[in-house]
Amino acid sequence: MGYKISENSVNALLRISDVSEETGLSVLTLRNWEKRYGIPTPTRTQGGQRLYSVSQITLLKQIKEQIEQGHKPGKILRSIAENQHHSPDTNIISLGSEPLVQLIYVSRPTTTLSQAELNELIKKAAVQNQLENITGILLKTTQHFVQAIEGPRSAINKLYNKITSDSRHSTVTILKYQPIQERSFAKWSMTLLTNKDINQKILSKLNLRNDFDPYRLNDLSAHSLLSFASQES
Ligand SMILES: Cc1cc2nc3c(=O)[nH]c(=O)nc-3n(C[C@H](O)[C@H](O)[C@H](O)COP(=O)(O)O)c2cc1C
Repeated sequence: MGYKISENSVNALLRISDVSEETGLSVLTLRNWEKRYGIPTPTRTQGGQRLYSVSQITLLKQIKEQIEQGHKPGKILRSIAENQHHSPDTNIISLGSEPLVQLIYVSRPTTTLSQAELNELIKKAAVQNQLENITGILLKTTQHFVQAIEGPRSAINKLYNKITSDSRHSTVTILKYQPIQERSFAKWSMTLLTNKDINQKILSKLNLRNDFDPYRLNDLSAHSLLSFASQES
């Protein structure tokens, strides 16, 4: 993915095309909603280009989820707009202490890492993660890494930025970035799963073929894959 979430995610600003890719809402929809309901609320560059904060994306994802559950877009958007009007400092995202978030990404290894190198990577990661109150798991298949990291938002954003610049892999792509109430992988500061943890039972539960492409997983299937695999290990 072409953009980076900054350490202070409140200040991370993304372009409309990135927001569209991240939320699955078309650029046209984003512009229309803004025009009709005042949501989302991007800031503008001097040149007039729209820039969106990470919290706007979270809001858009929540709206999309509600639409997928059968609610009418106009009704949701009008109700949020009204709430914002009555109390401009709050919206449906609660403000307060730093939220816990979970991020899942997929990438391609650029070199063949030996088992010893992988073990070393995990060992270092686990130590660093423990210091930052981060938990998670790393799935290494022959052609991909799929990793879940969860913890305080600023720590996750900072780690994700480090991970994307690591030359041991490339094409790092976010599959899921979401606030969470509780951790899914609380047992591990970091642990390694491999192909052998992805058995036929898991694949059929997720309706996946043996040669599935992890870049095509959505947030839910990516999470289920790691979660089922971690239960096997
Ligand atoms: C697939 C992959 C997963 C990684 N996971 C973690 C991780 O969970 N935690 C971590 O601290 N570093 C992880 N790293 C290493 C980071 O990319 C980076 O090298 C490390 O955080 C170095 O941090 P430093 O610059 O603070 O020493 C991972 C690297 C790769 C290639």
